[in-house]
Amino acid sequence: MAFSLDWQDILQHFPDGLMVTDPSFTIQFVNQAFAQIVGLEQNRLVGAKCHQMFPGSLCHSDQCPLTRAQAIREPLLMEAGEHCKIHNQAPWVVTVTPIMDEQGQFAGLLEKAADAVILHRFKAELAASHGRMRKTMGAIIQAMSMTIEKRDPYTAGHQRRTAKLCRAIATELDFSWERIQGLRMAAAIHDLGKIHVPAAILNKPGAMSEHEMAIIRMHPHTAFDILKGIHFPWPLAEIIYQHHERMDGSGYPRQLQGDQILLEARILSVADVVESMSSFRPYRPALGLEQATEELRRHRGTMYDAQVVDACIRLLTEKGFDFKTKTWQQKPAAGSSAR
Ligand SMILES: [Fe+2]
Repeated sequence: MAFSLDWQDILQHFPDGLMVTDPSFTIQFVNQAFAQIVGLEQNRLVGAKCHQMFPGSLCHSDQCPLTRAQAIREPLLMEAGEHCKIHNQAPWVVTVTPIMDEQGQFAGLLEKAADAVILHRFKAELAASHGRMRKTMGAIIQAMSMTIEKRDPYTAGHQRRTAKLCRAIATELDFSWERIQGLRMAAAIHDLGKIHVPAAILNKPGAMSEHEMAIIRMHPHTAFDILKGIHFPWPLAEIIYQHHERMDGSGYPRQLQGDQILLEARILSVADVVESMSSFRPYRPALGLEQATEELRRHRGTMYDAQVVDACIRLLTEKGFDFKTKTWQQKPAAGSSAR
């Protein structure tokens, strides 16, 4: 017996909703599932205009998904209910596919509506997995930060406090939450490269020789080498690589200038200097925030980015920022001594 298919019957019983319109958006066919989704009889839909049956804010505009699919001649994916009024409030994923005739001319549109529950479940799982990944990333950064601080007691807490000031400056400069997270992570491990510097040099109380300074000055590059292969959502390796660069090219290791230096690195360099100057070091006593502010003023616009300096000085002199207060909270915006 010859095998034959009744396409009408197959399409009628297809589990996803199907609708076919001609080029003027007159509905030519709907299956049972589609009629059930929109809550209307099949015979009421066939022959009517799509925009009459499903009026929405995008009807007759260039942004109507049917018009867009017709224009780009490619399938278009969208979520129903956003633009068109339909009876069934369940989430539906709609694919609009242009139909071309044998001559390659546009002949109409096929719209397929499928249950989006699975898609939404998938999206939720993806978001949860993303959250878990962020937590793990934060824990790894924390572990790296502790590793260097355990080895170098004089900088214990330095990275954490620098990160705190970085966050405050970035907030002052209206950075997005996402961008602030990247800067905080970079700041929390910015001296990671010191892992490669002998402890005797790191903790040396007196003045450094040229050779010892040269070893210390390798630390941004060492950190870059350690981090460059890790695909963080932010350019952490590059930010850290640049944290001793200065706007006028007087920094190290590459003597970058101005816009060659990432804004994150300009913030980190200012925060690093302020934190270092306000803390005790084996080679000098703590100099205090006043001297740190003076250093920033003296080199504003030359070594340090002017807007970063302004934001930092505002925080220190007007907004009561200090490194000690754990509960210091930034209010919404109103209106070289580091080795
Ligand atoms: Fe450093």
